[in-house]
Amino acid sequence: MSTNHSVHSASAPGKVILFGEHAVVYGQPAIAVPVAQVRATATVEMAPPGSGLAIIAPDLGKSVSLATAPQDEPLAAAARRTLTHLSASEPDATVTISSTIPIASGLGSGAAVSAALVRALAGFLGHTLEPAQVSALVFEVERIHHGTPSGIDNTVVAYEQPVYFVRGHPADRLSVGAPFALVIGDTGTRSPTRHVVERVRQAWEHSPARYDALFDGIGDIASEARRAIEVGDVDGLGLLMDDNHELLIELRVSSSKLDELVEAARFGGALGAKLSGAGRGGNVVALVEDDTVDDVTEALREAGAVRVICTRVTTTD
Ligand code: PMV
Repeated sequence: MSTNHSVHSASAPGKVILFGEHAVVYGQPAIAVPVAQVRATATVEMAPPGSGLAIIAPDLGKSVSLATAPQDEPLAAAARRTLTHLSASEPDATVTISSTIPIASGLGSGAAVSAALVRALAGFLGHTLEPAQVSALVFEVERIHHGTPSGIDNTVVAYEQPVYFVRGHPADRLSVGAPFALVIGDTGTRSPTRHVVERVRQAWEHSPARYDALFDGIGDIASEARRAIEVGDVDGLGLLMDDNHELLIELRVSSSKLDELVEAARFGGALGAKLSGAGRGGNVVALVEDDTVDDVTEALREAGAVRVICTRVTTTD
């Protein structure tokens, strides 16, 4: 394909895990959906000859140059892997990244930033990448962020579709029998995924039988949730979220703030609620009927949520 050095922009959504976090690292299924209300955007523009590739991310307080960035710098790593994938040399260009996705809070900020960057850089070089290619490149970068990522974040942001995900398997898109609404409330506590995943691994190594049983239980819930989503059983889905939250408490990845927000959402009328993502901080996600979105939003704010995002889950193709 020929190169096309005009300005190129691309974006990727945030995401929320509805079922199966942590257990997914151990081979159990999980379900995640895109959150289009928050996005990361990357714009690539030509720079004077000899300037090389610079990546500027004001929202992340970062500015890196490809020539000098360390190997484990995630933005540079995304650009390097894209150039290698396309067998392209480093262009003279500036990538500017902006994002409205809160970082380290379970909404997939890292994966979305990488996906936007990969797509925009490929576009600048005259290539359009398939979601599977974007997902694979972003996964490589996720390994720098997380150590042992399951692959769910890169998959859902690259496909921008609800996914039923099993580690090491191709993405499986979910069909949604009846659209439903989610209200996502942020504890305001940042919680790096890597640390929480490591703590769970240590606990699993210490008590493998107990933890394997918890992971199996979470996997069974995710499988049942898939059926509930496909047939449009929204009430059943809410109960499964409550059950999943109980098992996450047993995994010791919840916190008093997360539990308070979950309780507040249920009290406000949610059909079910749970923590989402790595836990210990970050967000809760509540399943709500359309006419209780405002009540649940208010209940989460009153309980101390620093940010509330509402989204709807539908099949988009
Ligand atoms: O905190 P997040 O949204 O990046 O989610 C992490 C999900 C885990 O299952 C805990 C880890 C993983 O790699 O899947």
